[in-house]
Amino acid sequence: MESSRLLIEGGRRIEGEIQIHGAKNSVLPILAATLLCGDISSIHNCPGLSDAFAAMRILRSLGCEVSHEGSTVTVNSANAEGDIVSDGLMHEMRSSIVFLGAILGRVGRCRLSFPGGCELGPRPIDLHLEALRRLGVKITEDHGILDCTAGVRPTSADITLSLPSVGATENIMLYSALGSGETVIRNAAREPEISDLAGYLIKCGAEISGQGTSTLVINGVESLHGCEYSVMPDRIEAATYMGAAAITNGELMLKGVNPADMYSCMSVFSEMGCGVYPYDDKIFISARKPVSAVRTVRTMPYPGFPTDCQPIVMAVLAKSSGTSVIVENIFENRFMAAPELRRMGANIKAEGKVAVVEGVKKLYGAPVRAYDLRAGAALVVAALGAEGQTQVSNIHYIDRGYESIETTLSSVGANIKRV
Ligand code: UD1
Repeated sequence: MESSRLLIEGGRRIEGEIQIHGAKNSVLPILAATLLCGDISSIHNCPGLSDAFAAMRILRSLGCEVSHEGSTVTVNSANAEGDIVSDGLMHEMRSSIVFLGAILGRVGRCRLSFPGGCELGPRPIDLHLEALRRLGVKITEDHGILDCTAGVRPTSADITLSLPSVGATENIMLYSALGSGETVIRNAAREPEISDLAGYLIKCGAEISGQGTSTLVINGVESLHGCEYSVMPDRIEAATYMGAAAITNGELMLKGVNPADMYSCMSVFSEMGCGVYPYDDKIFISARKPVSAVRTVRTMPYPGFPTDCQPIVMAVLAKSSGTSVIVENIFENRFMAAPELRRMGANIKAEGKVAVVEGVKKLYGAPVRAYDLRAGAALVVAALGAEGQTQVSNIHYIDRGYESIETTLSSVGANIKRV
């Protein structure tokens, strides 16, 4: 795991075109959802990410036939009778908890280890479990193992989430798609990836309405069938490459994106002084002059500014004129990039939920370490805008969410290689 590093020689302008891959946060729940149809689904636009490969291994371990050709993954879940996700597989991918609702929906039982803490601080699943209990699931927690058995489903369940958790919304949708009851989720997450999961399930025959709003209604159906579905574009990957253009005074055409999902990100880059021009399924960003500080950036559930883009924006603002404030409202431990950026000459003070970024004129290459996926991507962005060479280690984190980041960035002028 610890072997590869990225070597980045900074100071080159990022210029050209990038085709954005399918979304990590969409492909994982959709792959889990393929379990529910007991049939063949072909999922197109699957990104080649270590997290997606881990999801495929989980599907195989449950009895699915999974084949992967180019960016299409075909899953036959006809014989998916498995109900256990091994501890090793649970640990491989933090988001494997999304398999809970799907396995329970498919076979009525599920045993897996508690996901526990992660790089972003404690990652509770109390909302997932509370909702499943409301849907009649019996859950015991013993020595870190969750044992769940589907009981009698209520004919209708009205569930209000105390916060719009993406994972909890997905698990409730997955568990409720099959069956006879009506499930209403209030204060549901509105992220586009939720609508994408709903899109796949509906194509398989599910009855879901309200996606994209905070009230989702799922009417259970007796069975689902397979389908062909294309995963939505990755808005976080797109924002990362916007960051690469911004910090290098570059110009990029991002292709295959959905600009409507990215307004909050685009407005932050515009406020920095970048020209941001969305049209159709493209965004053109032009950063012909050094970026300037912004007013407070606050992370919020969608359609607010995404927490996953926060480290990227922090890296760009580290090399800007003026002082910016970042407030992180979603995760406790999400300023992991700050100490590493300081090694590169950034002036960032982070305490609790707030980081104050005093822009500097220059960042300098340094040996730095990725402590989580987006913090790692933020270091790559900073390195592109830094003088001299940066070595980023721990890059298995980056591979969880970016398909061959070095190939993509080299194609637009970066001097970056994996060693
Ligand atoms: C998903 C995304 C992640 C993104 C996050 C927020 C995937 C695979 N991951 O993560 O990239 O950063 O949404 O947009 O889609 N919480 C509870 N109890 C729960 C569940 C969550 O307290 O039962 C809290 C979390 O600690 C966190 C907040 O709710 O503070 C948001 O978490 P959630 O929306 O559930 O994020 P994930 O689904 O884990």
